[in-house]
Amino acid sequence: MAVNYKAEWPMSLGAARDTLEAKQPDIDNGLDVPDPSRYYSPEFMRLEWQKLWPRVWLLAGVGSDIPEEGDYFTFAVGAEEFVLVRQADRGVRAFYNVCPHRGNRVVLNEQGSVARFTCAFHGWQFGCNGKLERITDEATFNPKLVAHKPGLTEVRCESLGGILFINMDPNAAPLAQAIGLPPGYIENYEIDKMHVVHQVRSEWQANWKTGVDAFYETYHLPWVHPQTQGVMEDFSQYDLYPNGASRMIVPICVKSHRVADQETVEPYLQFMLKEGGIDPGSFAGSAREVRRAIQVSKRARARSVGLTHYDKFTDGQLTDSWATGVFPNVQMGMHPEGVFIMRFLPHATDPETFYYDTMILYRYIDDPNYTVPAWMGLPAGIDVTGQTRPNVIHVPVGQKPNLGDVLDQDSELLPVQQKGIRSRAFRGPLWSEQEQRVRHFHKELDRYINGQK
Ligand code: FES
Ligand SMILES: [Fe+2]
Repeated sequence: MAVNYKAEWPMSLGAARDTLEAKQPDIDNGLDVPDPSRYYSPEFMRLEWQKLWPRVWLLAGVGSDIPEEGDYFTFAVGAEEFVLVRQADRGVRAFYNVCPHRGNRVVLNEQGSVARFTCAFHGWQFGCNGKLERITDEATFNPKLVAHKPGLTEVRCESLGGILFINMDPNAAPLAQAIGLPPGYIENYEIDKMHVVHQVRSEWQANWKTGVDAFYETYHLPWVHPQTQGVMEDFSQYDLYPNGASRMIVPICVKSHRVADQETVEPYLQFMLKEGGIDPGSFAGSAREVRRAIQVSKRARARSVGLTHYDKFTDGQLTDSWATGVFPNVQMGMHPEGVFIMRFLPHATDPETFYYDTMILYRYIDDPNYTVPAWMGLPAGIDVTGQTRPNVIHVPVGQKPNLGDVLDQDSELLPVQQKGIRSRAFRGPLWSEQEQRVRHFHKELDRYINGQK
């Protein structure tokens, strides 16, 4: 082992201790190499269903999708499905999407708006508050059987900065406490003022954790996504927070340290300048000066359009990607202009299939250059004003998800890696310090599986 493996590694952006950008203290997660069966065995999947999923806060969706009373959307994870519905008091409540009569799904589509829910099987009706309102032919039931007025079964639902989470465990800690991120971290982005402008749920032939792992590090960037070297540093600042949460700050609008020429402003960086509100033709600086120039320009642009919440962001936050992991199955690419939420949703029965569910949230500003970063793969020509909520695009196994070059490259990689993980020759992952978020995530997972949490 090289003695200097940490000293040689410029892993801190050097932000002051009291800012949200500050490098977090090291957490020693040891050097254990987990058994690879966690990535494919039905037994491990069963343990996750017993000990993990029913006990953690799960990102169900965003509040701006259901602005009015009676607006709802469904959220499925494995074999369970929930319906989240806006209440008369502006709050949101969540219920299992299961009719108490004979178990039919009460809601059959992914989103909609109702005055009450009506089960399609025998027409039982429930209010948006989940209460039973009407039993068809009630006189034909022995009153003792329905004396408890069976309504929809509620689960906990809490919001953090405009994002809605549910928890099946009545004894779980409140969301703000469980999430592990410092106060303001999520809230500063004012996600409640953003809208989902694109959502794709693609099916990948890999375990959901193979998915999480791949998106928790930038170690693979030069190999899987070599095109990013012109606009991104792949040595990220990695930060570990309590309860399995973590972050990597990926400096953007810079060339990777691996690129010899750090002076020439090539078309990729010119494109970044334009998005940052700078005319590339009149930019006289070198490639090293692009990131700083864009930060200055974006701050001025925010002021000119009245976006006062930019005052809460560090300069780095205006250009870099703060890829933020929320245990167990979420990563959010946080940017002032928009947020990219990715959820790694387990398949109901197959440990080697997951759904990669991605949402692009954008805050509409009437300026064609004010847009989300290109790596998010926002298709051209779609309505970004927030006037229409796009349908979820479902992409079956084996089809290219069309998530943009970078994410499509990941979709090709993962099923191949999953095959190798299954080999009897594979002894378990050997995680570097660049993969410390992956280890941190698995350590927290182990605490649930081993009954320590
Ligand atoms: S199953 Fe819903 S009304 Fe019968
Ligand atoms: Fe990737």
